[in-house]
Amino acid sequence: MRLFMLVTFILFSGKSAHSCEIRFNPPKVFVKYGGSAAASCYISQCNDIAGMGWESSFGGTGLKEGISTLNTTFDKVTDWNVDPKCFVSFLNDEQIPKKLPFTVYKMPDKVSMSKPKDPMRATSSYDLQCDIKDVAPANSLVIRWYKGNKIIHEQKSTRQDRSPFDETFTTTLKVAVEDNGEEVWCEARLKFVPEEQSPPPKRSEAHVLTVFYPPCFIKPQSEMLSICTSSKSSLNCTAIGNPTPVYSWTFTGTTQEGIQEKNETGPVLTLESQLPGVYSCTATNAVGKTTKYFHLITVQGNNIS
Ligand SMILES: *[C@@H]1O[C@H](CO)[C@@H](O)[C@H](O)[C@H]1NC(C)=O
Ligand SMILES: *[C@@H]1O[C@H](CO)[C@@H](O)[C@H](O)[C@H]1NC(C)=O
Ligand SMILES: *[C@@H]1O[C@H](CO)[C@@H](O)[C@H](O)[C@H]1NC(C)=O
Repeated sequence: MRLFMLVTFILFSGKSAHSCEIRFNPPKVFVKYGGSAAASCYISQCNDIAGMGWESSFGGTGLKEGISTLNTTFDKVTDWNVDPKCFVSFLNDEQIPKKLPFTVYKMPDKVSMSKPKDPMRATSSYDLQCDIKDVAPANSLVIRWYKGNKIIHEQKSTRQDRSPFDETFTTTLKVAVEDNGEEVWCEARLKFVPEEQSPPPKRSEAHVLTVFYPPCFIKPQSEMLSICTSSKSSLNCTAIGNPTPVYSWTFTGTTQEGIQEKNETGPVLTLESQLPGVYSCTATNAVGKTTKYFHLITVQGNNIS
């Protein structure tokens, strides 16, 4: 019977593509697995018809005569492949079916993000991984990656599954100095059109990034100081870096031989005697070191105006 209807549909479709129109309300149905839904089918401008009906894996209504609206309900939907159709049958045995767009969905049981590498190095790239457990359907699944409340990447599933599946997503994060202390996480959402029909997204736990970067001076790499005019009795070598840098100081005098190590491990060196020469300060941490020079020069007092 079904085959017969199909054959007649093909044979007559050209002739009776008429003006007969089938519409649905709502135009698309989104139902949570185990939930219920209802829909109405409307026909208009259909002539010489025998009746209309619904057909689906839920069973059909059979052919109903003398109406132009037909309602149906889908109770406790536990079938991932419900493909309801509303059809119009004509007196000549021809039939026009129309499929109701019907989505059965399930939000994931779990969205989790593997702990990223810790610590990370500034300007390097790292893979982040997000695991989604038991979600459906694939064509609506969208994964968003966040860093400190900003979306850094969005991706879709490439699968076709209508029933629940697990999937692992990865993205690459290039870390910057500013990312130290930022949180990252991933989020799964089922994106339906219209958007209002989408269930609330589900997010993974957040991970705090630790980003190591070498010491860097806030002030210039090299400073020139003249003893007469400078009231400075200390040199400031403060550098930023993660982890916090440690410092070592040396002095090379212009009037004496050799390099003298200073017994100072902090960023500020207090000058006991203002000997001319070059003070150097090296800031070191786990990922690098950098050196700053302070040139102390003697100025003939009278020559300064
Ligand atoms: C069909 O459903 C619509 C919308 O829910 C409702 O307004 C209408 O009364 C229903 N018709 C019948 C015959 O139950
Ligand atoms: C040294 O410089 C840093 C950065 O400019 C500043 O925060 C700090 O207070 C200074 N320390 C002294 C002792 O001047
Ligand atoms: C260097 O500092 C350490 C600790 O502050 C102290 O024990 C030591 O005597 C100092 N050495 C010199 C040569 O000042």
